[in-house]
Amino acid sequence: MTTTADPVRYHLARLVGGLSAPLRNTVGGLVDRPGKLLRSRLLTACAGFGRADHERVARLGAVVELVHLASLVHDDVIDRAAIRRGGPAAHRAAGPELAVLAGLACLSAAGTEAADLGEGVATAVSRTVAALAHGELLDVERGFDTGLSLPDYVDLVRRKTGVLFRLCCLLGAVESGVDSAVAAALAEFGVEWGIAFQVLDDCLDLEAAGEDKPAGTDHLLGLFGAPTLAALRADTSGELHRILLAPAFSDGHLTRVRELVTAHGGLRAARTLAGVHFGHALTALSRTPDGPARRALAGMLETSRS
Ligand code: FPP
Ligand code: MG
Repeated sequence: MTTTADPVRYHLARLVGGLSAPLRNTVGGLVDRPGKLLRSRLLTACAGFGRADHERVARLGAVVELVHLASLVHDDVIDRAAIRRGGPAAHRAAGPELAVLAGLACLSAAGTEAADLGEGVATAVSRTVAALAHGELLDVERGFDTGLSLPDYVDLVRRKTGVLFRLCCLLGAVESGVDSAVAAALAEFGVEWGIAFQVLDDCLDLEAAGEDKPAGTDHLLGLFGAPTLAALRADTSGELHRILLAPAFSDGHLTRVRELVTAHGGLRAARTLAGVHFGHALTALSRTPDGPARRALAGMLETSRS
């Protein structure tokens, strides 16, 4: 693992560095490739509404990044993903047993750090992890469900992704000492941004290969996001439904799936849905005091939606 001058990455490396060598090494690649650190940046930005202690904010940032990292390690086992953050998924490099155990150890390290930061922090983190686990369960259960309604899909992404964004905003807000109405507005901002973020992420499965995984990976697992669910409703011919549920469904069918989803307005509908939740996020943000912190969050949100 590399050392770093970034305070969140410093604390992340410190927490993972406390694990036994096999567990530490299993997630070392992910610690070295921390991604955009969006969740800790969100927490730090929310801490800007008041006077927060920089050291505690960095430690809180490391906690949310470590929870996120653990969830990705487990998610990659469940999704049988080969690549994460441009490198091999932990279970591909170390095997599923070590990956699951290393994910658990990371979660435990995050929990210990959270408890050291305060009882309220520990409670909020542990409730969020339970909600994430429920969200991931719903994600597994929806496999090959072409009848999943958009409201049920939104509920799923709220639990799978929105709750962690919410935690980041809440921890930063509380740390900065804002009143409960502002903290509640920031929590709502987080959950709505998280939903919009996941809806756009699900669009990528039809649009472009990201650094994480080739396009089509979710569809091959039967995980149909907002674009496909919307297109399924619009496709009265039933062709999309037939292709997705065909026993021989494979990557050779993905081009046709993409064509059908586009032709039936699925990508457009998904972007509209994301826009609705970005809008809810901005409405919640408007209930916070105007100033540099609010403008910083609005700027981050605009960057993420473009
Ligand atoms: C990625 O979704 C996964 C999540 C957002 C949540 C994962 C949660 C768990 C595995 C529950 C257990 C939680 C912990 C903290 C151990 P995705 O598969 O749609 O995204 P991807 O394309 O990045 O894989
Ligand atoms: Mg996944």
